[in-house]
Amino acid sequence: MSITYMEKERIFRLDTQESTYLLGIVGSEGFVGHLYYGKKIKDITGVQELYRVHENPYTPDENNRDRLSFYDCFPFEYSGHGIGDFRESSIRAELADGSRAGKFTYVSHEIIGGKEKLVGLPATFGTTENAESLHIRCKDSVSGLTVVLKYSVFADVDAVIRSVQVINEGKEEIKLTKVMSASLDMEAGSYDALTLHGSWARERHMERKPIGHGWFGVSSNRGESSHQEHPFLGVLAQDAGQETGEVFGFQLVYSGNFIAKAQMSQFGGVRVVIGIEPEDFCWKLAPGESFQTPEAVLVYSHEGLGGMTRSFHDLYRNHLIRSPYLHKKRPILINNWEATYFDFNTEKIIDIARESARLGIELMVLDDGWFGNRFDDNRSLGDWKVNEEKLPGGLAYLAEQINALGMKFGLWFEPEMISPDSDLYRAHPDWAIAVPGRTAGLARNQYVLDISRKEVRDAVLEQVFAVLHSANIEYVKWDMNRPLADLYSAGLPADRQGELYHRYVLGMYEMQERLLEEFPNLLLENCSGGGARFDPGMLYYSPQIWCSDDTDAVERLMIQEGTALIYPLSAIGAHVSVCPNHTVGRTTPFVTRGNVALTGTFGYELDITKLSEEEKTMVSRQVKMYHTLNDLVREGDYYRIASYGENHLYDCYQVNSKQKDEALLFYTQVLNEPNMHGRRIRLSGMNPDACYRVYLVDCEKDPFLQETDRVFSGEVLMNAGFIMERLWGDFRSKLLFFKQIS
Ligand code: GLA
Repeated sequence: MSITYMEKERIFRLDTQESTYLLGIVGSEGFVGHLYYGKKIKDITGVQELYRVHENPYTPDENNRDRLSFYDCFPFEYSGHGIGDFRESSIRAELADGSRAGKFTYVSHEIIGGKEKLVGLPATFGTTENAESLHIRCKDSVSGLTVVLKYSVFADVDAVIRSVQVINEGKEEIKLTKVMSASLDMEAGSYDALTLHGSWARERHMERKPIGHGWFGVSSNRGESSHQEHPFLGVLAQDAGQETGEVFGFQLVYSGNFIAKAQMSQFGGVRVVIGIEPEDFCWKLAPGESFQTPEAVLVYSHEGLGGMTRSFHDLYRNHLIRSPYLHKKRPILINNWEATYFDFNTEKIIDIARESARLGIELMVLDDGWFGNRFDDNRSLGDWKVNEEKLPGGLAYLAEQINALGMKFGLWFEPEMISPDSDLYRAHPDWAIAVPGRTAGLARNQYVLDISRKEVRDAVLEQVFAVLHSANIEYVKWDMNRPLADLYSAGLPADRQGELYHRYVLGMYEMQERLLEEFPNLLLENCSGGGARFDPGMLYYSPQIWCSDDTDAVERLMIQEGTALIYPLSAIGAHVSVCPNHTVGRTTPFVTRGNVALTGTFGYELDITKLSEEEKTMVSRQVKMYHTLNDLVREGDYYRIASYGENHLYDCYQVNSKQKDEALLFYTQVLNEPNMHGRRIRLSGMNPDACYRVYLVDCEKDPFLQETDRVFSGEVLMNAGFIMERLWGDFRSKLLFFKQIS
């Protein structure tokens, strides 16, 4: 890792272990141009040609006559707006006179050891030993608006982190109506875009398609990163595959409205921008004030999608997730939601906990319905006081009983919401986000609280803290079950209403920060109607996020595959639930449900008292499996071997230890085929010089770990492969453990 400035060439070079990022200063006006991002280059002699300024129309100081042609093809590191670069702009500011043009040229730079924190925003972190940063100051000489382009690299991961600070150094107020976190001009080539799309209960399905002329993009205007689209854009060389070829991953460390766009220009180059969605965004900046964008993460891989995935996993594990639980086995939890929904009382929860404790489950989580008059989902959000009718003796009593069984106790909240039928709404109707004079739309019969307002945040947190102090609560599930609409804040003046979406997200981050300051040992799991806010921003606060309300094992194969494209398995909330499944009505074997959940945080979401004796025996073995395998799953390298979403027959992925002495292979035969042979499977990332013995991991067997006499060399496993037997029936899963023996 290093950042250097080559004074003679006026080039900045940012190096990670395997990649190089080059940008520089061009011409007498000091345009900041992008030169290269890709595989590591030691000697960069000659690279300036990629500015293409020797081609017509040269730089304006040599050819002012064709200034616009220069603007429209120069690879700007951070393009201005409205001056003749007709591609996607990076920033748009409305000046006091109503004009919107801006052109940012080099002023100064500094190279700093380590990495600064971003005030109020989640951000990757590093020390002076393992991180280095570059800040380039550029200014629009007319308005005085300044942008500080920030870059950081780490010693251990192939990623470049970017963000932008905008400072109004002019004399008049300006309105910022667009500000991207990063812009990258890529050379002409044939690229595919890879995105994650979905809906409630089917989040983050992968989709790949060619990038053509015009633009392609994903965004959210729902106030959350959303079920529907994801703050991620992959740009893949068209010949890139799972473990080969060039892949560029772009992600925003943010949980609200975002946009990521790839635009192919008239000359075939592709400009990628990523940042806060500009629609409905308008931020007022008085002279001297500044605005900090969220961070964008850029990952380059020359080892295909797999290389990109492993870089994201390492980056987020080593430089984003702060929780003290990150490198620990999380307590195996059982959640009562699918077991009881709203229909529970102390006795029922203790019954579930008793049976769970007997089988080795470690944490009882009480979900929605414990507060106010919450007998269904029509009321009481905002009234965070225990419902003593359901829970006589309150949470303190319940937690004591659960602790006495040897289990921890956890609780669900939805702090950002307010039901019209709640004491909170009756007292403060203007705390709900709604436009005066319009009836705001309900979703799940609830409104969103205006947590851009400090008094609202304080009042909600006061209630949440009181509950958490009242009993021994060691885990919180923080939920958020509807998008934002009818945007208006009674706490903001008319000319600041465009700030509400972002202020909402900042408010939510502040609340989570305060929660963790008050309860530093709390295990926090974020959630948003399943996985509508599964993003890097939330990972800064919670080491795990509920991945989807869909707990069906087959659906989860695709949801977890798309999620694992970016996020480490240790972050993926995954539970075993009952069949027929509550979302799709499918019946899958208990073994398969367990194996799929084992590739996440692992837990249960069912009425354990109603399981058969045979299933209970499997639960106690799955608990042991988790304890044996979780270190590997949590800390290992992930390899996607085959995708059910692509082949519609089977799914296969693998987790290897960093030392490559152990590997776990998760195989699911989703559909059986008649008269078919066993399937050849080739593994990845094994040590070619080692030999491995195969163990069968099966919760139907005692012991669950069965040594076999199958031994393979690493080379055979990776090149020739081995035969996975044909399994009898659909939705069948097989878990194999490979241990190095020589
Ligand atoms: C959301 C969550 C579920 C559950 C319910 C409770 O849908 O994703 O896991 O907590 O809310 O209302």
